[in-house]
Amino acid sequence: MTVLYSPSQLLAADDPPPALFNAVCTACHGPAATGNVTLLSPQIAGQESWYIKRQLENYLDGRRGTDAEYKPGRQMALISAVIDTPQKLDALADYLSRLQPEVKNKSVIGDLNRGQKLYAPCAVCHGSHAEGNEQLGGPRLRNLDDWYQIGQLQQFRTGNRGTAEGDIHGAQMRAAVQLLNDDADIRDVVAYITSLTD
Ligand code: HEC
Ligand code: HEC
Repeated sequence: MTVLYSPSQLLAADDPPPALFNAVCTACHGPAATGNVTLLSPQIAGQESWYIKRQLENYLDGRRGTDAEYKPGRQMALISAVIDTPQKLDALADYLSRLQPEVKNKSVIGDLNRGQKLYAPCAVCHGSHAEGNEQLGGPRLRNLDDWYQIGQLQQFRTGNRGTAEGDIHGAQMRAAVQLLNDDADIRDVVAYITSLTD
């Protein structure tokens, strides 16, 4: 895995991380928030701040990570309790969004032509280069680990994510995942997404 730029190039030297970042988040998401596959913790560096905020609120308010059987989600939901003021939430989301994402190694091999066709309806909400679309609430998918995307698509499919009361955006994605019929579709579309470049 290659780190293109060190975070210090995007963040000013006098722009230290929020205290919680070093004390808590780095333990699982890594020192630069580029993720840790062993801990099933995704890369968050470079994600849009509005999306990071919404997810942290989902974990805090019991809309995500409530299933005791799904350990990664449960862990994140429990740890989110340390973010106990709106100021801490804003500071973390802002800081994480300004970290340089790492370009990911691919762990999934799929049929890119099939994946491209499958991705066409996804592009409406996630952008044709998977760059995200704030108006439609679709997060940036590029730079997310392929194993994480596959895991989340399965979470939406089983209804572990996107079915809680008040989870409007999750419900939209839960509806959209029905466009993918089986594991092969999931694999091919994720292989295509991770092949996209700027
Ligand atoms: C004990 C390990 C652990 C710690 C500590 C931790 N996380 Fe997480 N985090 C995870 C895991 C695992 C996931 C994926 C959960 C899932 O699959 O639903 C996650 C998911 C997330 C997501 C959702 C990403 C997405 O693409 O939807 C955000 C945002 C996040 N964490 C931010 C944080 C922040 C901010 C902190 C520090 C306050 C933190 N995490 C601390 C393990 C951790
Ligand atoms: C109607 C708009 C819409 C369409 C179409 C759509 N998505 Fe989404 N997607 C979303 C939204 C909104 C979220 C964030 C949900 C949330 O806030 O929890 C999301 C989340 C995701 C995530 C999880 C990202 C993360 O960081 O956890 C993945 C992966 C994903 N979408 C892939 C796809 C794929 C693949 C398709 C096409 C089959 C697709 N989406 C179609 C709106 C859409």
